[in-house]
Amino acid sequence: MTSETPAFPDDFLWGTATAAYQVEGAAAEDGRTPSIWDTFSHTPGRVLGGDTGDTACDHYHRFREDVALMAELGVDAYRFSVSWSRVQPTGRGPAVQRGLDFYRALVDELLAHGITPYLTLYHWDLPQELESPFHGGTAAGGGWPERETAYRFAEYAQAVGEALGDRVHHWTTLNEPWCSAFLGYGSGVHAPGRTEPVAALRAAHHLNLAHGLGVQALRSVLPKRAEVLVSLNPAVVRPRSQSAEDVDAARRIDALANRVFAGPMLHGRYDEDLLADVRHLTDWSFIKDGDVETAHQPLDGLGINYYTPSVVSAAPEGATEVDRADGHGNGTASPWVGAERVAFHQPPGEHTAMGWSVDPTGLGDLLHRYSEEAPGLPLYITENGAAYDDKPDAEGRFHDPERIAYLHSHLDAVARARSQGIDVRGYFLWSLLDNFEWGYGYSRRFGIVHVDFETQQRTPKASARWYAEVARTGRLPEPTAPALD
Ligand code: FCB
Repeated sequence: MTSETPAFPDDFLWGTATAAYQVEGAAAEDGRTPSIWDTFSHTPGRVLGGDTGDTACDHYHRFREDVALMAELGVDAYRFSVSWSRVQPTGRGPAVQRGLDFYRALVDELLAHGITPYLTLYHWDLPQELESPFHGGTAAGGGWPERETAYRFAEYAQAVGEALGDRVHHWTTLNEPWCSAFLGYGSGVHAPGRTEPVAALRAAHHLNLAHGLGVQALRSVLPKRAEVLVSLNPAVVRPRSQSAEDVDAARRIDALANRVFAGPMLHGRYDEDLLADVRHLTDWSFIKDGDVETAHQPLDGLGINYYTPSVVSAAPEGATEVDRADGHGNGTASPWVGAERVAFHQPPGEHTAMGWSVDPTGLGDLLHRYSEEAPGLPLYITENGAAYDDKPDAEGRFHDPERIAYLHSHLDAVARARSQGIDVRGYFLWSLLDNFEWGYGYSRRFGIVHVDFETQQRTPKASARWYAEVARTGRLPEPTAPALD
């Protein structure tokens, strides 16, 4: 560190984050129907170790204990997501009271502890009925590649807005639509596990449309003071060399990772180079008149999720196998539709248990980029954190110095960006709890609170203590682990 980290202001928002399928469990309770993640995780070979979210952290039954843990940490805010198939088990129609009751109770518990709820409507768990109907029911199916799914999302957004708008004032439409589109329908390492390049592009567009329609639907029912955000996971794409080929590889990935969503959502357009790069696959005729304008809604903030940067190059001439170490599982198909010849390289240096390189400069770069790209739009870090292979000591305590060092260096980057005038208002640590890490099941632990998945016992790690100190003082203590009793 070159100089002392600048302090955070008193009103900086300190939060923790989770997502419905990763923590709730209670998969078949109170009328909930399967989501695409239930189907996917129950399909042999899809998730490491055959793990599923059936029970996860049992947050559905233990949310009071979890809110008490957050209160003990002294955090200001909790970012969670709503399970769509709890609220609309058939993916359409009026919301189900029992499903909404859980979120009402959770929100009331948060408010009673002075913790502000940040609600995300969609964190990847599309009702199965909207992908391929189980019940032969009313839904057309087809998932995000179909336009109808965007209309269904708007209806769902409105239903949740009507039900919870009196007590939730911070709303996020989508979490990381890149993953939904390109991991769900491109590489297939996420649900629903399809490997159809054109479907991935169609999904991306319909997610943009869903976002815009969702913002409109929310605004039609929420009080004026409500704030609406979207959370993206912009890639920090670095060319391996300054050769024209490598720089062009980086441009292609930037288009497919970043501009495909930020273009419509923040600027009301798809860039010409993005459209041209995949013209051999599609004529984009699924984009209808007015769609990009619909996607381009005024927002109250941009959520940025950041973990690690990417280093890319043009695949060497004649290569048959392209290295796909892109940090999102080892699918046989590439998520980088139309850019399959771009190679991804593992940056040297430290890595987390995900194999992701530790590089806080990427976070600083993103904050600078989006503050320039969307002047006046407040920024929030809606996810940042690290998985490590935490092991208990003889007394059952968890010392996680690597995670503390990771958090320290990334928060230092946030503080420095702020001191350079960038309007970053909050930070949500991923994650409050160890949880179901998608394709990796329970094998990767991101929590600052350890979860024993046999007993459901929660044990705050040293990083939880450290983060509590950050939230209390607005300053970064030394990245040394605090003592645990
Ligand atoms: C993000 C997801 C989140 C979690 C972290 C590690 O891509 O939004 O649910 O899995 O990665």
